[in-house]
Amino acid sequence: MLTDATRNTIRELMARYPQARSALGPALEAAQQQLGYLPDEAMAEVAAIFDLEPMEVQAFVGFYHMLHQWPVGQYHVEVCTNVPCMLRGAGKCGEQLKEKLGLEYGQTTPDGMFTLGEMECLGSCGTAPMVSVTRAQSDWSRYYEELNTPERVDAMLAELRSLASVPADQLPSAGRVVPGVDEVARPYHHSHHPDTNNILARIDKPDSHTLASYEADGGYALARQILAKEGGKTPLEVLETVKAAGLRGRGGAGFPTGMKWGFLPAGSYPRYLVVNADESEPGTFKDRLIIEYDPHQLIEGIILACYATEASHAFIYIRGEYFFGAQRLEDAVAEARAKGYIGKGIFGSAKDLEITVHRGAGAYICGEETALLTSLEGYRGHPRLKPPFPAVEGLYRKPTIVNNVETITQVVSIVRNGADWYKQWGSEKSPGFALYCLSGQVKKPGVYELPYNTTLRELIYDYAGGTIDDRPIKSVIPGGLSMPHVAVDKLDTPMTFEDIVAAGSSLGSCGIIVICEGESIVEVARRTMGFYREESCGKCTPCREGGGWIEKILERIERGEGQSSDLDLIDRLTWPIERQSFCPFGAASVWGVRSMIKLYRDDFEAYIEQTNPTHKEPELPVRPIYRPDTGDVAPKVRV
Ligand code: FES
Repeated sequence: MLTDATRNTIRELMARYPQARSALGPALEAAQQQLGYLPDEAMAEVAAIFDLEPMEVQAFVGFYHMLHQWPVGQYHVEVCTNVPCMLRGAGKCGEQLKEKLGLEYGQTTPDGMFTLGEMECLGSCGTAPMVSVTRAQSDWSRYYEELNTPERVDAMLAELRSLASVPADQLPSAGRVVPGVDEVARPYHHSHHPDTNNILARIDKPDSHTLASYEADGGYALARQILAKEGGKTPLEVLETVKAAGLRGRGGAGFPTGMKWGFLPAGSYPRYLVVNADESEPGTFKDRLIIEYDPHQLIEGIILACYATEASHAFIYIRGEYFFGAQRLEDAVAEARAKGYIGKGIFGSAKDLEITVHRGAGAYICGEETALLTSLEGYRGHPRLKPPFPAVEGLYRKPTIVNNVETITQVVSIVRNGADWYKQWGSEKSPGFALYCLSGQVKKPGVYELPYNTTLRELIYDYAGGTIDDRPIKSVIPGGLSMPHVAVDKLDTPMTFEDIVAAGSSLGSCGIIVICEGESIVEVARRTMGFYREESCGKCTPCREGGGWIEKILERIERGEGQSSDLDLIDRLTWPIERQSFCPFGAASVWGVRSMIKLYRDDFEAYIEQTNPTHKEPELPVRPIYRPDTGDVAPKVRV
């Protein structure tokens, strides 16, 4: 089934990696682009090229939602309905699409032009509601954003219909569009403190993504200077600067970057740097801004990080849905390679450096660093037991540093200006500045570059313009959807790792989601749990089974069959999921729901009383439940 061209593409992809199996995902994507989907015969042919059993390839395809074994329409239109989009009208957008196309989610129009689907967060929460559109048998994809009026939804459908007969290679290439707004390449809303205008300083400039623009602003001069034989710095000096600055990882855990780099075992080579660009935590969309509008700043950060850690090959693992971002990265890498900034003897030094852009295929769990490495090696994205930590045994079992896009980009400013400069902001334990993502019910959602210890109130009211229609705030999630909610009495909390923990949550990815009074907390809880149930990798039982169980309970509460004892049951269920899951995903999957029940129990109780006043119990089986916190077995618990 596969053409010679596709087979050649697959062989080229295999040659990009130290181990060819890493190319399995990109190879299947290439096959899907040729055929529109992956029938059994195509998977068998790919398996033969990789010298694998067909079943191994089928197992891989079954794990990643962007790979499909069935045909879809010419346009695959997927509506994001995750919480930040839900709070800004994704429901209405989806209903309008269903009505206009005469479809339910999962269906295809009789003419085969549109398949409508529902999708989890696509890293566009600041421009919600949004849909992702991909065209079958091509690599064409677009984000249609700010679809907050029926006119914009109509305009999108009209445009897609008008492009239906245009050959795929002649389609307009813009990655993101706001229908009816003639600013196709404009970055989404962002702002900064005048003193911390670093990472986002260039993104409004025309062609900010090009090497010419970056160099015109002094880009790559730092890397050239650091790597120079005369007047340069040693790798250890660069590492010590990053360590002294106290830079903490921006992916969610906040681990000190310099310390992580220092864990690399002496004398063990090759070493790898893996840049985590999987950015899948709902409410987080900062890395996308860097990738799309200033990719050379990221590449310069990679050069400095690889120099400091003596890594010779860097991989950028970018989530598969970021078609546009991946294209911009590929182009930027090609430009840098052409100038001798990537390859053998970069900048005329003895340093060799390869950079490979690797697209994921759709799996939230691949944001977890060990799952990401497993995925990058060409397997289902299952996490690995730690220790050994990746710094000791990571990609291909070699020492590997995994850092987030923003973390690596921050290295440029720190090495340029020094540790003391960086530490003038923030607190002792949370030095510097960060990219905050504001989403949900604020007037100006977007990305804000501000010092750590900026308060939630300042972020929401001074920068994001306050709440929509000036509604009172009900709840805030300070660090991405998985983090515990905080109530309105915590708005004056400074955004530092230590202060947010003291307030009962975590800084996570600095994805701040604002929920106003009037929203249904029951719906937010059910939708939150639905996402984590969907994205569980299925490796361990507590996470795989527990998430679905909690979601079912929340669904029955929402449809008016709940009891207040259900709230206790949910709370009880969260503990074994948190404590006994294989990887941090399990804990993160239940923090949000548990915090909502703790903070807003009255709202749940009132909803239950209103929707099920007779306390009618649904017909349900009973099952004993084990309580690991007490060791008790409670009989006859409704499931
Ligand atoms: Fe929809 Fe993030 S893009 S929730």
